[in-house]
Order: sequence, then structure tokens, then C-alpha cells
Amino acid sequence: MITDRFRKELAQFRPYVQGKPIEVVRRELGLDRIEKLASNENQFGPSPKAVAAMKAELDGVNFYPEGHPYELVTKLSKRLGVDEDMLIIGNGGEGILWNIAMTMLNEGDEVIMAYPSFDIYDITAIYFGATCHKVPLIDNHFDIDGMLAKVNEKTKIFWLCTPNNPTGNVCSVAELDRIVAQLPEDVLLVIDEAYYEFATARDDYKRDNLEYLKTHDNILVLRTFSKIYGLAGTRIGYAVANAAVASKANMIRQTFGINRLAQVAALAALDDEDYLQYVIESNSDALKTMEDYFDSRGLKYITSYANFIWVDLGVDSKKLFTELEKLGVIIRAGYLWGYDTCARISTGTKEQMRFLLECLDQVL
Ligand SMILES: Cc1ncc(COP(=O)(O)O)c(C=O)c1O
Repeated sequence: MITDRFRKELAQFRPYVQGKPIEVVRRELGLDRIEKLASNENQFGPSPKAVAAMKAELDGVNFYPEGHPYELVTKLSKRLGVDEDMLIIGNGGEGILWNIAMTMLNEGDEVIMAYPSFDIYDITAIYFGATCHKVPLIDNHFDIDGMLAKVNEKTKIFWLCTPNNPTGNVCSVAELDRIVAQLPEDVLLVIDEAYYEFATARDDYKRDNLEYLKTHDNILVLRTFSKIYGLAGTRIGYAVANAAVASKANMIRQTFGINRLAQVAALAALDDEDYLQYVIESNSDALKTMEDYFDSRGLKYITSYANFIWVDLGVDSKKLFTELEKLGVIIRAGYLWGYDTCARISTGTKEQMRFLLECLDQVL
């Protein structure tokens, strides 16, 4: 039977659970107003400069895009102070994460990640027949010793998400120094900085993890245009790594993986300083609004360095999700990660935050 011929790894495979799309909730519940605060999208709209660039590009979509977008590569290399051959541009950060797994993993290999963290690290391991060690956070901090203790000769990738999704905490400089110093040089440390720009907007987070690449060949830093740049729907991200790693990853990427609209949008968004400032300010306002609310109710949350907040709402998150959904608010429930009373809630506009808190008031 044809079904007997699927790759055996697919028997274990469980796809990434996407935050419920607005269209689905609208169909199911027939609501007029739905606010999706579940997928850490940028709720402040895309960069106007990026939108204008995409409009101007529309008439050219009969042509394939550049496989390795020259202008974007040169611009990023100048801006980041890295060589052009150290850059990987991908179909979203997720495209690059898959690309890295494809570059590195064989059956029987091992990877290490914190838990809870971004599920794709585990999902890609399963797909390639590798084992993923998930090391639980301790008191909302990375268990660095626990993670390093899992390293052995089979380890290929050490995934580190900072700021961490879904908890929003960051790995300290001292902790990261320790990981870099102790990790064998043949284990790739992937520093997933999908939310990096939100973190750097805070006064207590001033650092540049690209510095590690100057002294170490086994480090890759991943960033995306989906979050701060508001381009999640276009699918574009980038990574910086040692040229040998980048060239292998670039060799196996899809030929035309990054579409034309995404390429011009990313280029334009990089120059949209006003927009970035607006997003950063709106995001910190939204975090503050949520924090004040949680404080007033005595609810525990983790200080967020990103565009979402991880909070213990003290109630069954599955029920809470359903009740909030009925009112038109979609959040990410903690039970999905095994944290039954927690939730991850993305930031939004003042109006969205007002609506969220009103609905939370009703439900709690
Ligand atoms: C930690 C982390 N890494 C990578 C990604 C991938 O983002 P994208 O594929 O939209 O660039 C996400 C998306 O939510 C994320 O949270």
C-alpha cells in the first residue's frame, strides 16, 4: 500500500499547532469583532514604506525572484558588520530553522532545547529521525547546566531561543558566555533572536550576540522580518553564521524560496526608522498595560523582552481560551505546553488591550 511507504519518521510527527486564524473563529462563532493575540504578530500594521515597495513590485511578479537577494544581502552585511557570505536569507525564520536542520541532522543525531520553547526545534528533530532533549526552565530561567549536561558526541544542534518563546525571558550575557565557552566546537549553537529588536529596545538589554561569531565558527544567529518589521504575512527572515555553515545552508535552500514582494518589503522596512520607533513604543505601552492589570489582580507573569507576555492566570487555560474566544479574543493557552493555568498573550494596540482586559475581567 502506498501508505506503507511514507517515511517512518512521519509516524511520530505532529505538526506545529498554529494559533487559530481569525477567519476560522469568525466562521465558527459568527462574531463581528475578533482580536487575535495568539501568534505574536505585529498588531501595529506593516511598515508603510514596505507596503509602498510591495505595491510598486506587483507588476513584476511574473518573474522569479532572486534566489539569494543581492540587495538585501549587501544591505544587511553593511548594517550588521558581517561578511556577505555569512548571510542566509530564508522563507521566514522558520524556513531557515528547517534549512539548518536539513543541513545538520541525520537519523540518530541529537539536539538540545529548553522547554517550553519554540516547537519547531523538536518538530524538525522528529522529522529527521533525531532525538530532541527538552530541558525544562527552572523558575522561568534557562537551566544552562541541565542543557549542557545533555551534550554528548551525538549532539549536533543546541537551540537557544532568546527572548524565549513562549515565556519572554532572555539568556543573560554570563549564561551565554558559559554556553559558548563550554559547547564543543562541532555543535552548532543556534541563537534564535526572532524577538531581538524588542529586547534591545529595553534599557536592561544592551548586547550584540553577533560578536560571538568573531571568535567562534559554530554559532548561528537567526532573526526575522515577521515581528518588529510587521511582515509575518510575506515570509522572510535571515541568519548570520560562519561562511562554511552559511554556504552549505544556502546550497540546499529552495531555488526561489523568498518571494519578490517579501524581498522588497524587507529592504524598505529596514529603512523605516519612524515605523520601528512607533512599534517599539506601542509594544512597551501594551506590555505595561498588561503588567499593570496583572499586578492589580496579583497575577504572576514573567518580565517580557518580546511582544508577548507569559502569565499565570490561575484558572484552567483550556476553559479560559474557549470563554475568551466566545467574546472575540484569541490567546495562546498554556496547556499546549503542559502549563495548565498559564497563557501567552501578544501585545496589541491600546484599543485591543482595552478589549482584552475587558474580556479577561468578564471571564476571570
Ligand atoms: C522563536 C521563534 N523563532 C522563529 C520564528 C519564526 O518566525 P517566522 O518564520 O515568521 O520568521 C518564530 C515565530 O513565531 C518564533 O517565535
